[in-house]
Amino acid sequence: MKEKLLNIKELASASVESVASLKDLYEAKVKYFGKAGLITELSKGMKDVPKEERPNVGKLINEVRTEIEEMFSKREEVLKKEERAKTYVSEAIDITMPSKQRNVGALHPITLVRNELIDAFTGMGFSIYEGPEIEEDYYNFQMLNIPKDHPARDMQDTFYITENILLRTQTSSGQARVMLKTQPPIKILSPGKVYRSDSDASHSPMFHQMEGLVVDKGITLCDLKGTLDEFVKIMFGKDTKTRLRPSYFPFTEPSVEVDVSCSECHGKGCKLCKGTGWIEILGAGIVNKKVLEDCGIDSNEYSGYAFGMGIERIAILKYKIPDIRLFFENDVRFLKQFK
Ligand code: PHE
Repeated sequence: MKEKLLNIKELASASVESVASLKDLYEAKVKYFGKAGLITELSKGMKDVPKEERPNVGKLINEVRTEIEEMFSKREEVLKKEERAKTYVSEAIDITMPSKQRNVGALHPITLVRNELIDAFTGMGFSIYEGPEIEEDYYNFQMLNIPKDHPARDMQDTFYITENILLRTQTSSGQARVMLKTQPPIKILSPGKVYRSDSDASHSPMFHQMEGLVVDKGITLCDLKGTLDEFVKIMFGKDTKTRLRPSYFPFTEPSVEVDVSCSECHGKGCKLCKGTGWIEILGAGIVNKKVLEDCGIDSNEYSGYAFGMGIERIAILKYKIPDIRLFFENDVRFLKQFK
């Protein structure tokens, strides 16, 4: 029996040394400790050992079992370490390698400025109205006191779908749509695309406008000036001043052109403001009584003001952009500067 045990021990020692992987080690272990394993068989054979010898033989078996178990667990430790070291090498990440650059999108500068304008005016109680871009001649011109043969149409030549359906030339086209549906008080802001057959460094056949319309009891030019004063301070800084110059639009009377003090030279005169110290940013005026009446609003009870500005123009001033066409070429080198 003793010899048998020593034999098994030697066998075990040899196979423990020879295995090269954890998997092989566990397989070898089954040979000794599995259901039909050598050690298991020995324990089963105890019943054939004479009674007096059983304590001694039992002790011996236990000793050998413990020794073999220890051999296995020592080898297991070593193999585990080796295998871990191997995975460290095979799964290694080179943290000095340059990362893959992901291009993150950003809002278009026109969208950025439009959002800023919306923030400024909604902060003063305006709500948003968006009219259609494909518009009827009726809303774009006739309801704005620009009948078919009016010379003011020349300045706003556009793209016609039919004789009476066109791409709107101004967001003012929303004015009558709102006033025909809503009785005062009205206080809306109307951003959107407009179209004109014009194209050069400062004109684009498609551009964006932001219209404002306020109709209520006792509205005067002072309300317009106060609102715009507040707006330019939000948009261009606290010391920005406004100036109203007389102008003409068929749908406002009186009409004004609004200038802001030049942010570049603060009124001294520079290239940006063409030496005048002022930059024109929008057209505005008191809503023509005829327009109110045509929309069914009593012009003796109510009055209103309207203004319309080009969003590109505001963006050009804000970001000092030399050519309006840059906005629509979609050159990423240009666009990514506005993140
Ligand atoms: N719609 C005019 C334009 O496009 C601007 C404007 C709007 C003027 C509202 C007066 C009142 O030039």
